[in-house]
Amino acid sequence: MNLKASELAMVPFVSVDNMMRLVHHIGLETFMADLAHEIEVDFARWDLFDKTPRLGSHSDVGVIELMPTSDGTHYGFKYVNGHPKNMKEGLQTVTAFGVLSDVDTGYPVLFSEMTVLTALRTAAMSAVATKHLAGADAKTMAMIGNGAQSEFQCIAQKAVNGIDTVRLYDIDSAATDKCMANLAGLGLTVIPCASPEEAIEGAQIITTATADKDMQTILTDNMVGSGVHINAIGGDCPGKTELHRDIVARSSIFVEYPPQTRIEGEIQQMDPDHPVTELWEVITGKAKGRKSASEITLFDGVGFAIEDFSALRYVHSKIKNTPFYIDFDLIADPDDPRDLFGMVKRAR
Ligand SMILES: NC(=O)c1ccc[n+]([C@@H]2O[C@H](COP(=O)([O-])OP(=O)(O)OC[C@H]3O[C@@H](n4cnc5c(N)ncnc54)[C@H](O)[C@@H]3O)[C@@H](O)[C@H]2O)c1
Repeated sequence: MNLKASELAMVPFVSVDNMMRLVHHIGLETFMADLAHEIEVDFARWDLFDKTPRLGSHSDVGVIELMPTSDGTHYGFKYVNGHPKNMKEGLQTVTAFGVLSDVDTGYPVLFSEMTVLTALRTAAMSAVATKHLAGADAKTMAMIGNGAQSEFQCIAQKAVNGIDTVRLYDIDSAATDKCMANLAGLGLTVIPCASPEEAIEGAQIITTATADKDMQTILTDNMVGSGVHINAIGGDCPGKTELHRDIVARSSIFVEYPPQTRIEGEIQQMDPDHPVTELWEVITGKAKGRKSASEITLFDGVGFAIEDFSALRYVHSKIKNTPFYIDFDLIADPDDPRDLFGMVKRAR
């Protein structure tokens, strides 16, 4: 495609408003299922990608991170923060935006909000892990931590894995009430619970998405029975975990990218060589997922750049010829590439 310079200078921008309209246009469950598929496709070509642990800038109250990757054709990065204290101040714990670029020119081809998109892709990722690791009869999920991520996690599990029941728990019952109200009418049986023990009763899947800056023990060893699949997604930073070490020790552990997860995930509690299986190996059939009905499988999800790349590429493919973006005058692109100064001078 031989685009004129002026066309390349205008970068499609998907605002929060347009992302929400795009989600409804496609359909929430279809969007989640599509995203899950895109993630699987990209995980299946794992070797092609540039991979590096994300770059975090830590403070006493949170972290700001950059998450880059490339498949040689496109390059993507996400800016994301994690500030557990924000929620009490009326702000989001996690906010994000991202860019997708053409490796050939280095020009961006998409600039997008990613706060909503991160919640969608994180949920799709948990659903992919659950699809490959949970027992076949898993229809009930305990959702512990009923904040911003929670409804997305529940809907993705319904869309991808056909779960029919969620059991909710949060230390703040107002969060559970909000989650219940949001899930009403979306095809799930929703049961509020007064304790984490009650929430995990009869659940074959447990998803934890709590936010705290410390090492938490949302689940202790005696709480978790055999055969359960756990998605632990809230422990995603050095010094920020959700599971008691003993559960981690008796689980078969599956991760995205070990060099990042060993710093950020539940396995930061374990020895540096504690055995883990990379999820892409299970997706491609290179490694086995669940080996027995009684095994506890743990997806130690921290969020990896390839998932954001998949999400950005999906959004990029879906906005063509739609009203769900605006052109952003982002790239200075004079007709004569050596006359950047002249372009500025003539703009007076
Ligand atoms: N792995 C990933 O890819 C990924 C992606 C996005 C967010 N996250 C993480 O997921 C977590 C949740 O994010 P969010 O945006 O929903 O945050 P949020 O602040 O909106 O919600 C967190 C909820 O956890 C509850 N909570 C805190 N401690 C608890 C406990 N001990 N027991 C039960 N509930 C408890 C809070 O009351 C709150 O309702 C954060 O830690 C965030 O960093 C991970």
